Amino acid sequence: MSKRYTITAALPYTNGPIHIGHLAGVYVPADIYSRYLRLTGNDVAFICGSDEHGVPITIKAKKEGVTPQDIVDKYHAIIKQSFIDFGITFDNYSRTSAKIHHDTAQEFFKTLYDKNEFVEEVTEQLYDAEANQFLADRFVTGTCPKCGNEEAYGDQCESCGSSLNATDLINPKSAITGNIPTLKETKHWFLPLNKHEDFLREWILKGHKKDWKPNVYGQVKSWIDDGLRPRAVTRDLDWGIPVPVEGGEGKVLYVWFDAPIGYISATKEWAEREGKNWEDYWKDEDTKLVHFIGKDNIVFHCIIFPSMLKAEGSYILPDNVPANEFLNLEGQKLSTSKNWAVWLPDYLIDFPNQQDVLRYALTANAPETKDNDFTWKDFQARNNNELVAIFGNFINRVVVLTNKYYGGIIPEPSDYSTIDEETLATVKAYPAVISSSIERYRFREASQELMNLARLGNKYLADEEPWKTFKTDEARTKTVMFVALQIASALAVLSEPFLPFTSNKLKSILCHSALDAESTWDDISSKEVLLPANHQIGKGELLFSKIEDAQIEAQLEKLITSKKANEAANKVVEPQKEEITFEDFTKLDLRVGTILEAEKMPKTKKLLVLKVDTGIDTRTIVSGIAESFKPEEVIGKRVTVLVNLAPRKLRGVESQGMILMTEDEGGNLVFVNPDTDAVNNGLQIS
Ligand code: MF3
Ligand code: ZN
Repeated sequence: MSKRYTITAALPYTNGPIHIGHLAGVYVPADIYSRYLRLTGNDVAFICGSDEHGVPITIKAKKEGVTPQDIVDKYHAIIKQSFIDFGITFDNYSRTSAKIHHDTAQEFFKTLYDKNEFVEEVTEQLYDAEANQFLADRFVTGTCPKCGNEEAYGDQCESCGSSLNATDLINPKSAITGNIPTLKETKHWFLPLNKHEDFLREWILKGHKKDWKPNVYGQVKSWIDDGLRPRAVTRDLDWGIPVPVEGGEGKVLYVWFDAPIGYISATKEWAEREGKNWEDYWKDEDTKLVHFIGKDNIVFHCIIFPSMLKAEGSYILPDNVPANEFLNLEGQKLSTSKNWAVWLPDYLIDFPNQQDVLRYALTANAPETKDNDFTWKDFQARNNNELVAIFGNFINRVVVLTNKYYGGIIPEPSDYSTIDEETLATVKAYPAVISSSIERYRFREASQELMNLARLGNKYLADEEPWKTFKTDEARTKTVMFVALQIASALAVLSEPFLPFTSNKLKSILCHSALDAESTWDDISSKEVLLPANHQIGKGELLFSKIEDAQIEAQLEKLITSKKANEAANKVVEPQKEEITFEDFTKLDLRVGTILEAEKMPKTKKLLVLKVDTGIDTRTIVSGIAESFKPEEVIGKRVTVLVNLAPRKLRGVESQGMILMTEDEGGNLVFVNPDTDAVNNGLQIS
């Protein structure tokens, strides 16, 4: 039965191009789902846009000496083009700097304000006096109180996914100056999530949400069980949407308050353009709202935004939030700042017109239930062994033979054999099989079923061997080719959500447009045949081509080179520190020591607890080198130790000295160690 759907894909931050991780985690699955729903006759609004506020954009602008608007204008255009290039069929791709969005977000805020849904409070917030700036969100980093990650941000820890208030951070540090923040009073509006706890519990935990993905359901449940706290939805920043109420001067809406409202304003913009009523897509209980996101966005889409919608009162709530896990690249976390990524514009330069190959490789290996790894070898194998050897090969054989034997005119079949009947029945069953996977958000599985249909075609040809019967049995050959053409035609339709460019090419080779009506998903099972006898098809054209080893090696090389170039470009030479006297220097007591024992400090990423023989004694030193060395690697190492540094407690362990480290060319930490058997009598200064 036809239904109305509002499908949203996370609005990408507009501070850089998008890479394969974004495509795999959010945009390809959302596009498969939307295309599928349209093909099966539903009314779909597929919505996205650029997320143009937030701290990272202002940081980037400052670094480049341009305005935040310059940054978002540049990347909005680049990102929008990438989506077009990769066949992502948004009905509207808007942006949060648009007037319609500012108006919509302010109106939303006003409504909650008028309904007394906010708590207005003056509290002490982190402040950087040198930068003259309150520190929230990405302006501040520190240790996550939940998991110990030392690089958590002021609003979220990316390691455990917890949403945080900046004041929760342990050892906070300003991302602008590196200073330790002070506290300063300021007024903000808070959304009392605690007030919505009962509703959330009822809606998510007891409602029908058991069909949510276990990773999403589990995370949300544990947050609710931990207890929810009020959350500030305004900020003391100058880039963002002005707070539209009295006392809000100089303040803006928190980016995570305005961005999801972007889904609504983008729908409004589209509806105005198309002469539709946007409210049908957001306020009608019969509309299904589905948010496609990555796992770091779960809390915002499953707790905060639903609480906002509920507090407003007139909106529907999401039916599902099929969040994906993360995609790694060649075994390492994708990273914009480290330039460890495959950027979509770059991919298209190296693999022109091969968008479907990437779409397919990312879908077949999508991080649906756990983090997954993209490797160029796997990409090559998916292309060569599946798209070329199975899908492309089948289509090529069918099209070439039809042209060769019958001048491209579909032959009249005679009686079907049992195999023919079984094969046609199997083909007719495929739409339901693929639908069932897609409707449960299992796009990997769905893509493999599609490939199975191509496999079936190949096997059918290999078993029936029309190239052999052609000389002996004209009628049989015609029947086999007729059946094979039906499989090819089903592939043209069923591949559309996954391989839209290929699907179009194939439809044009098979001259689908000359049929009475465009074939739909359901026609495959309901119609007797898809391509009638005497229908003329076109000439063959290769759908896929082999990717050579050299191309893959070039990509691996490119990754490493660009990462290195990035490291070199980001390398800052620290300025010389204040002058000291010779007497100051001689106060340092440096010794050559040997590491006797080493173990990881529990719940930290960086710290090792070492036992070091200094020649004077054996003492404990806590050293921040765990990301560069495994404990077993450092045991026995001779190192330079500052032994008269005042002891300091780190995570409850007293550290009695400091190990001297430096960096090698690649930016890796290395020990400052003497290359001879230095004595343990203090280092000589000469
Ligand atoms: N810009 C966010 C990110 O890339 C996603 C915003 S989604 C929205 O993580 F709901 F806020 F729009
Ligand atoms: Zn954490």
